[in-house]
Amino acid sequence: MELNPFSYQFHENPYPTYRWLRDSAPLYYNEKLNFYALSRFRDVLAASHDWETYSSVEGTQVERLDPNMFDLTPMVIFLDPPRHDRLRKLVSRAFTPRRVGDLEPFIRTTAVRLLDELAAHGGGDFVKEFSAPLPMEVIFTLLGVPQGDRQQLRAWMDLSLERDHDSPQIPARAIEAMAHSIQYWFNLLSELRRRPNEGLICALIDAEVETDNGDTTKLSDGEIVGFCSLLGAAGNETVTKLLANAVVLFARDRGEYGKILARPDRIPNAVEEVLRYTSPSQYQGRTVTREVEWYGQTVPKGSRILLLTAAANRDDREFSDPDRFQIDRDVPIALGFGQGIHFCLGASLARLECRVALEEFGRRFPRYAVDEHSCRRVHMSNVHGYESVPFTAK
Ligand code: HEM
Repeated sequence: MELNPFSYQFHENPYPTYRWLRDSAPLYYNEKLNFYALSRFRDVLAASHDWETYSSVEGTQVERLDPNMFDLTPMVIFLDPPRHDRLRKLVSRAFTPRRVGDLEPFIRTTAVRLLDELAAHGGGDFVKEFSAPLPMEVIFTLLGVPQGDRQQLRAWMDLSLERDHDSPQIPARAIEAMAHSIQYWFNLLSELRRRPNEGLICALIDAEVETDNGDTTKLSDGEIVGFCSLLGAAGNETVTKLLANAVVLFARDRGEYGKILARPDRIPNAVEEVLRYTSPSQYQGRTVTREVEWYGQTVPKGSRILLLTAAANRDDREFSDPDRFQIDRDVPIALGFGQGIHFCLGASLARLECRVALEEFGRRFPRYAVDEHSCRRVHMSNVHGYESVPFTAK
């Protein structure tokens, strides 16, 4: 067996490979692609908290991104402290549970508008018509992206994450799409400097950040664009996947669906279980800053190592009957949002969007079926989920 994050078959069902890794190769080395991987819950958790040893500065995917990108548009997800902490502090205020809570009416109105349309047609494509547009409207409204630009921008972001079967090379179409979106953000930024709006980008233009010697300075255009790209991509991609995974799981298991229909107050816990059971973000890549030892083997300094959160979330050393989807399960540590200093900045927003979406979906579609043969998966290096989920009301 091998772990090949670029295999399209692997994307269909990675869980048998993860079981083999946990049981037979808890420290795994892939010679061809030159990376290590940890898969047991306690190991992944410990490494996630140790940013000094497990650094993010060389990227968090298996494939190496263009190092120029890190300089041109620095992003918190690819930074270690102290710069990580300074930049994260600037935007974290916008994502506290209280601030995010203010968005609930907007999220609900948007969800209702999209779902009423689907209900009128007796179903449709859950991803294309609901779980993609909902988070897109939320994050782009928050950032202040003009309505007319949103579809194109999201299409570029999707494309920039696409990978070819069995190849660690980033495809030309992904590189082009990434360049288009970065150019778009720079253009929008200069437009907003001339004509500000109420969005978060304008708050970042005005924000002040501390320098190494204790002075304060404004963010550079590259730093603001880094935030835009990261928040745009993180805000769009993952919620889309989690919601579609939820709807496929509930179509398979009417018993579990019945539980949230009967008691919508169980939805927040159900969201945690979907996150555990099929994590949209499958792993976090790191580079080790010193030689480390796991299970009697040495991982040399400078090695790439994957923290396989999706494998850890099915570890039977941590969870009883981990391959069963149980919405009442107690999931005390949400490893699907990462842990440690890079813990998902948008976790409160994601939880809110998912809760509201499932509440409104349940109201309109108490009985529905998913045509699983027609579902299509995305093929992205560390994002797991569907690009198309056809469903019909019953
Ligand atoms: C179900 C939805 C989501 C999932 C599963 C998810 C997952 C994750 C994970 C696993 C990380 C840690 C990355 C690492 O350690 O390298 C992360 C970080 C991050 N997420 Fe999310 N995310 C979700 C939604 C969102 C949303 C809606 C936003 C938008 C605000 C967002 C913004 C971020 C940011 C900015 C970071 C980087 C934080 C840092 O490096 O300090 N995420 N997310």
